[in-house]
Amino acid sequence: EKGGYEHFMLKEIYEQPRSIHDCMRGRIYPEQGKVQLGGLKEYTEKLKNVDRIIIVACGTSWHAGLVGEYLIEEYARIPVEVEYASEFRYRNPIISEKDLVIAISQSGETADTMAAIELAKEKGATIFGICNVVGASIPRITHAGVYTHAGPEIGVASTKAFTAQVTVLTLIAFYTAQQRGTITQSKLIEYLTELNTIPQLVEQALQVNNHVHAIAQKFKDSANCLFLGRGSSFPVALEGALKLKEISYIHAEGYPAAEMKHGPIALIDEDMPVVVIATKHSSYEKVISNIQEVKARGGHIIAIVSEGDKEVREMADYVIEIPQVSEPFVPLLATIPLQLLAYHIAVMRGCNVDQPRNLAKSVTVE
Ligand code: M6R
Repeated sequence: EKGGYEHFMLKEIYEQPRSIHDCMRGRIYPEQGKVQLGGLKEYTEKLKNVDRIIIVACGTSWHAGLVGEYLIEEYARIPVEVEYASEFRYRNPIISEKDLVIAISQSGETADTMAAIELAKEKGATIFGICNVVGASIPRITHAGVYTHAGPEIGVASTKAFTAQVTVLTLIAFYTAQQRGTITQSKLIEYLTELNTIPQLVEQALQVNNHVHAIAQKFKDSANCLFLGRGSSFPVALEGALKLKEISYIHAEGYPAAEMKHGPIALIDEDMPVVVIATKHSSYEKVISNIQEVKARGGHIIAIVSEGDKEVREMADYVIEIPQVSEPFVPLLATIPLQLLAYHIAVMRGCNVDQPRNLAKSVTVE
């Protein structure tokens, strides 16, 4: 059942080229520059005219929501707010029939997310779901939705469901952008053509496994770990930190790289590994200065870089390369080595990777 892998988590990490492909199947037509989302078809006008989108979710799904915020705002130019479902439901949120709420949940059973949906529904909002488990409770209480089609995820730590959620959000961002005319047809064709190659590139990204294993060996006894990123790599940093803490029990925190100097920089010393997402995109130079700040304080840098990078390689203690892609696709690739890093460290520490202590796969109580 684990398909020859030692754990479900590793199997599910390796399934990502397939699951991302399954998630896009029948939904993108690169030559025609077309995105087709059957589940949202009747709500195309809503997407086209909506003034604001609110994303509600918990845990890893909330991180996917933050990536979605970046993509939808960047390409469809609609303001997005991302809320923890548990906070949203208890703070008398300002919401009306004009709003569109997108609830993201792998299991489709998370109690707080369900309650947030019910509340928004009562206030007249339109609700979309992004779920993995077909026929679960959330898809039944939403007006419309898109399944992630990642296949069953058994490991408590979410891996392939996260990248599938990000894929769906990418499709929604492009679809909405096209409808609203905020992306040119030629740019859309270019992006969809590239998106089509992402499963292969994820396959390539997985080839760093042995290298990541060696890095894990160096840092497995750390007590703390910091993850930094900017832009859409910030939620990837949060996700990297969550993976590490939930399966290896190492205290880890994700931060926007520039926020470091407002507090966490005080923690940095020789015993503090700092994982930085430093790919060649809009904030590359800024992230390089953040790396220098860490190095100046004796911290150890593990950098996720674009293939062929030279500048970061000179500063970092370890680099992990991912294939060069356009900015909207960075989260899909940068996540891969972070999943592997958490996995190997947890195995080396003798942790129960698939069923970490105190955690359940679906959180059906608040
Ligand atoms: O099934 P959901 O996506 O609604 O679950 C939300 C969280 O409980 C879940 O993502 C949790 O944080 C995972 N263990 C993370 O790996």
